[in-house]
Amino acid sequence: MSRELRISPIGPGDLAPTVAMHNRCSAQTLWSRYHRAMGAPQTYLPTLLASAGSVHLAARDTDGRIVAVGHLMPDRSAVEAALLVEDRWQGRGVGTCLLRRLGHHVLAGGWETVHGLLIPGETRMTAILRRMPVTLQCVDDGGAITTWAHASDVAAGIPARERLRLRRRRGTLC
Ligand SMILES: CC(C)(COP(=O)(O)OP(=O)(O)OC[C@H]1O[C@@H](n2cnc3c(N)ncnc32)[C@H](O)[C@@H]1OP(=O)(O)O)[C@@H](O)C(=O)NCCC(=O)NCCS
Repeated sequence: MSRELRISPIGPGDLAPTVAMHNRCSAQTLWSRYHRAMGAPQTYLPTLLASAGSVHLAARDTDGRIVAVGHLMPDRSAVEAALLVEDRWQGRGVGTCLLRRLGHHVLAGGWETVHGLLIPGETRMTAILRRMPVTLQCVDDGGAITTWAHASDVAAGIPARERLRLRRRRGTLC
């Protein structure tokens, strides 16, 4: 990922820059993320950013502007991961880096499985997932592809020293 970018947790207090980032995304990019046409981001982002137990990460440029976000949204023992990189930053390694960092949070959060929803033919996300050092399962329901992995497999893709550090910090990230 570009060295100009920094990744850090965000929350409800970061609503305005997250809305601004969504407003810079093309309709196609937003469709790939949400799988439907979404209304104004200020109507749905407050709920997303405030949802209990969720993890939200942002990549910021040197001006502090949010250019990409990654989310973990829990559902009991499972958690859903989602990514959104604004158009002009796509294809520069930002999504790959955010997904790796989300993987660390999956481990720290103690979830058993992580899953994500893909639109068939979403080449960038497919390329990222292929390169992840994790065994992935895929279920194609015709309209969308659910990709999921066991947290233990996510952990296996993280170097042992880093894994230990994350376990010690369990529950303290974000
Ligand atoms: C999918 C998404 C998160 C990927 O993030 P990104 O920062 O663009 O991805 P990266 O730069 O880390 O990696 C993209 C990979 O796709 C490859 N790629 C780039 N353009 C491509 C294209 N047109 N066709 C195929 N592969 C392509 C890149 O080469 C890279 O692979 P490589 O590192 O092996 O070369 C981002 O594009 C996005 O936000 N898309 C819209 C929302 C979405 O689809 N979210 C995922 C579902 S929640």
